[in-house]
This record gives sequence, C-alpha cells and structure tokens, in this order.
Amino acid sequence: MLKLENISKSFVQRGTVLDGLIFEINEGDSVSITGPSGSGKTTLLNIIGAMDLPDAGNIIFKGRSILKMTPDESALYRNKNIGFIFQEHLLLPHLTVKENILLPLYAHKISKEEFNSGGQHAKLLMERTGIASLDSKYPFQISGGEAQRVTLVRALVNKPDILLADEPTGSLDGKNADHLGTLLSEMNREFGITLIVATHSSDLAAKMNQHYRLENGKLKN
Ligand SMILES: Nc1ncnc2c1ncn2[C@@H]1O[C@H](COP(=O)(O)OP(=O)(O)OP(=O)(O)O)[C@@H](O)[C@H]1O
Ligand SMILES: [Mg+2]
Repeated sequence: MLKLENISKSFVQRGTVLDGLIFEINEGDSVSITGPSGSGKTTLLNIIGAMDLPDAGNIIFKGRSILKMTPDESALYRNKNIGFIFQEHLLLPHLTVKENILLPLYAHKISKEEFNSGGQHAKLLMERTGIASLDSKYPFQISGGEAQRVTLVRALVNKPDILLADEPTGSLDGKNADHLGTLLSEMNREFGITLIVATHSSDLAAKMNQHYRLENGKLKN
C-alpha cells in the first residue's frame, strides 16, 4: 500500500537524518519504529504524512507518487488517507469532545451521506473506546488519558487507511498508556487500520506485529 524508496532528508543545522531509507507497508500491517532520540522518527512520519518533503527519493501510495502531487492533492491525500496522533492531544479547547472529533469531516468537501456516515462511525468509535459519555465535555474537563482516546477517535473518523502515531503514549501514565496501546492494536485488528507507531516505549512497540529500528538514517528489522 505504501512504499518508500531511497528517502533522504537532511537539515542544515544537523546534517543527514534519513539516508536512502527503504520501507514498505501492506494494508492491515502494524509497525513499530523505535530508535534513539534524534534518529529521525518524527521526520520520517512527517514525510509519510506529506507534512514535510524529502530531499530525494520517492513515496508511492496505492501506486501513485505523493511527491508529484499539487498542494491541493497533497492536502486531500492527507485528509482522506492519513490519521495522526501526537504525544500531546492537541484538542481545540473551545470545542466539545464531540465537536473536536467531528472536525476532520469539515476539512474537505464531502457529501451529506459521507458526513452522516462519518458521524455514525464516530459514535461507534466513541462507544468502542469508552468515551461516549464525554461527548459534551470540554477538553479541560477530561483526563489526559481520556483526551488521548478522543484524539484517537478524531484521527479515525475519516476512516483513514494509515494511522501515524508519534509517541502517542508519551504523556500518559502506565495504566493509560497500556489502555491506549491496547486500543491501537484493537483498531488495527477490528477495523483493519494500518498502523505506524514511533515510540520509545518497548511495551507499546511490542503490541505491533512488525518491528523496525531507525539508526544511521535507515530502517532495520
Ligand atoms: N525542521 C527542522 N529543522 C532543523 N532540524 C530538524 C528539524 N526537524 C528535525 N530536525 C533535526 O533532525 C533530527 C531528527 O529529529 P526527529 O525529531 O525526527 O527525531 P526523533 O527520532 O523523532 O527524536 P525523538 O525520539 O526525540 O522524538 C534531530 O537532530 C532534529 O534536531
Ligand atoms: Mg520524535
């Protein structure tokens, strides 16, 4: 489904971060990426999510090069196909839980049917992740663990093909981290969401089916 061919990226201040990196992921896979701080995990996820461009190489998503897309096509690729979760929940403070979750449905033009089906999917996911009763609360009224589950549902509401999670349990205590990790792998199994998780947590990494390490600009099994 997604293929990275010889991806390289350097930053002026730092030099080479990714160095001819090769990676392939099939639909329904779940992958952990570990590696030292500064090894380029976030840089790699940003490139896969089309938030940043590599200096060289190619990225093929479902047979199409995402680097040859216009800015509009690239935004559509991101909105329709990719979900994101970061270390901090990034919920909008002036919107309720439900409004935050439905936000991605407003990011691009969709039909009324698609909007309704997105709403239904959101409801199902909220029940599935145990946050249905929080729908009218504001982010400051819920716990960090709950907020991260809200973020998970928001990332999945558009039914993306791939979920990119960058240290998703990094701000959670052990119990909430374990809960979120379990939900992530359940989303992979039950909904077939393809997962790419960058993390320092060996517990979270162990919940994925395939394991890679980012070192010296390359991914190793
Ligand atoms: N926009 C940028 N401009 C300059 N340097 C950058 C930029 N983004 C990342 N870097 C540098 O690239 C290197 C890789 O950073 P990155 O954030 O991808 O590492 P990481 O593996 O995610 O680290 P961590 O485990 O701490 O999250 C670091 O040395 C970082 O300082
Ligand atoms: Mg990082």
